[in-house]
Amino acid sequence: MNLGLRANQADPWGLRLRSFTPGRQRWDVQAIVARPFLAQPLEDALLKHPGVQCAKVNPTSGRVLILYSPIGPRLFAGKLIKDTLEEIVALGGYPGGRAKKEPNPLYEVLQRSLPSKGQLAIPLLVSGLHFLVRFVEGLFVISTIKTGGDKLTEGKAGQKQGKSLLFVGGMGLLLNSLDGWLRYHRVRLWQRVGQQTQQNLRAQLIARIEKQDPVFFDARSTGNLMNLLNQDTKRIGEFVGRGGEQIVDNVLVLVVYGTMMLATSPTLTLMAAVPVVLLLLPSRLLRNTIAKSYARRDELNDKFSQMLENNLAGIIDVKSFTAEEREIRRISGGGEELTEAHSAAAAVSSLESAMGRVIYSTGFAMTAAYGGQLVAEGTLDQESYVRLVYMFPRILDALASLEVLTRMYHEAVSSAERILPVLDALPLITSGPVRVNRNEVRGEVVFENVSFGYRPEVNVLNNVSFRLQSGETLGIIGRTGSGKSTLLRLLMRFYEVGEGRILIDGQDIRELDLQDLRSAVSLVSQDVYLFQGTVRDNVAYGRPEASETEIVEAMTEAEAKELLSTIPGGLNAEVGERGRKLSGGQKQRIAIARALLKDAPVLALDEVTSHLDYETEAAVKRSIREVSTEKSVIMVAHRLALVRNADKIIVLDSGRIREEGRHEELVAMGGIYASLWQLQTGAGSDFE
Ligand SMILES: Nc1ncnc2c1ncn2[C@@H]1O[C@H](COP(=O)(O)OP(=O)(O)OP(=O)(O)O)[C@@H](O)[C@H]1O
Ligand SMILES: [Mg+2]
Repeated sequence: MNLGLRANQADPWGLRLRSFTPGRQRWDVQAIVARPFLAQPLEDALLKHPGVQCAKVNPTSGRVLILYSPIGPRLFAGKLIKDTLEEIVALGGYPGGRAKKEPNPLYEVLQRSLPSKGQLAIPLLVSGLHFLVRFVEGLFVISTIKTGGDKLTEGKAGQKQGKSLLFVGGMGLLLNSLDGWLRYHRVRLWQRVGQQTQQNLRAQLIARIEKQDPVFFDARSTGNLMNLLNQDTKRIGEFVGRGGEQIVDNVLVLVVYGTMMLATSPTLTLMAAVPVVLLLLPSRLLRNTIAKSYARRDELNDKFSQMLENNLAGIIDVKSFTAEEREIRRISGGGEELTEAHSAAAAVSSLESAMGRVIYSTGFAMTAAYGGQLVAEGTLDQESYVRLVYMFPRILDALASLEVLTRMYHEAVSSAERILPVLDALPLITSGPVRVNRNEVRGEVVFENVSFGYRPEVNVLNNVSFRLQSGETLGIIGRTGSGKSTLLRLLMRFYEVGEGRILIDGQDIRELDLQDLRSAVSLVSQDVYLFQGTVRDNVAYGRPEASETEIVEAMTEAEAKELLSTIPGGLNAEVGERGRKLSGGQKQRIAIARALLKDAPVLALDEVTSHLDYETEAAVKRSIREVSTEKSVIMVAHRLALVRNADKIIVLDSGRIREEGRHEELVAMGGIYASLWQLQTGAGSDFE
């Protein structure tokens, strides 16, 4: 059921854990905001849940507080809230409230993407004119037939034949040329409206997607997003361009010719109108099947695109595991599944149009036959019958195009349903009010009892606290998966802390303006990503206005200057898609140069020398130390040599700080760090 909620599909309820302590959880639930009819039953249901001692659900703030026995079985409150809400909705009732009528998603999407009224006016006008010309053409044909008939009956044929033939021919040519000329412009203008709609929609979607939190991308595949941007926007654009053009034209045909028919013979018009009403029947009957088959097709399409994306991105690994044949089979399998889903969707919509065709063809055949009989009986005059016979095919044509239109409409509705949640998705991480100037940030970083889990029930960081003074270097080490990268992501506010807080210069980062915060921290991620473009573009990514001297300087600091002579093309060398034309170490150094050029007061480096040889690594380390005397540096490393000179080192294990201190202290402590040091250096050797 659509509640008008527009969070991402994986979490339509907009759930977010605010805080967690054993026995007490606070949640934000977007779905209940301003919906007391959901909030009340949720509270009742939570209270009935075993172990829950108190539950408060507030539809004004959207907050849910649950108190439960901390020594009882673990409570997965997020899942409980989600399941309960699903149950309430599935039961179909909103006790004490009214179910709102579901809005049509296509209508909502069009409202936001159609070009302005002014831009629609000209295509509408041309459509109207074109219809008018065809209408006049029709009247002319009818009158020519009638005059010809009269003259034949009156035996006057031949007298002014030459003149009238010339007139008829001339008029015919004129009207036909006008018809052709207007048709060309009608199609062209409407197509432009369609393209414009698609572009408006695409631009809005891109703007939305770019602003989303990483959580959003964790829940969606690239294939899905690419399809939304390319294919779904195209379907809506086509519905407006081709569909809009036909709808306007058909409505004019049906209204004008229908009225004329009514004036000519009300009985016959009524007979013809019955099948038109019945036409709604197949659409009603098949609506759910069509929606389901389209949704399945689109889902498989996303899966298929994702499969392709993954395959192409990992093509080197595919080859090294000689998995080409397996991949070909897998992708063909996906393709076949998709083809079947396409066929199934096409079959349902063909069934719908076939049913429609049978209904209106029968209706019209009967009407035409009955009309003939009326003429034979003398109840209907011949001219009216000619007019009716002329108008029938036009109306039939208009109805026949309904077939294409309904298909386009269903496609567009299905795409709108996919697009709308993204268009409405709001990032959960919002900017704080406090502005800071990057140049004034001292770079003191404090973690205060920070706990966090990507999923509320599994904590990745537990009660992490440390203080990094401005200008100091902090080394973070720990086993793989211990939460090191997560810690840096929290500092950048890619994810929100579950509990505790992170402070920069004494200010909670949630209070800070998001852009200011992210400008104050230079993060080099563990998985270096280079953008398609040149070395220069990549180094200057964070400061596009940087001069060549500054770029070369940053590269020198990152020990990357030699790349300028070793890579053909130097600064102007293309790095290829994701930097595939460069070696791992080259990419890492470009990424370091990029971060150094950004010149932020806090430098966060996540395993940035893993691809470098010892010598280059040592040089990079020296450089970073030199350039960052006034910066706070957080350095995540597996190789302890990198962090041994740090002012402070923390050892993370399963998300907890196990040891903390300077190198010498930690070695003396004889714990995890000491044994790692032993392992990496061989007892006693001075490794650097
Ligand atoms: N986006 C995500 N969604 C869900 N779980 C995640 C996500 N990213 C990381 N995790 C999980 O969080 C835990 C910590 O991951 P993290 O990347 O912080 O480890 P790490 O200490 O940096 O490891 P490594 O040394 O291998 O880089 C891991 O168990 C991982 O599976
Ligand atoms: Mg990591």
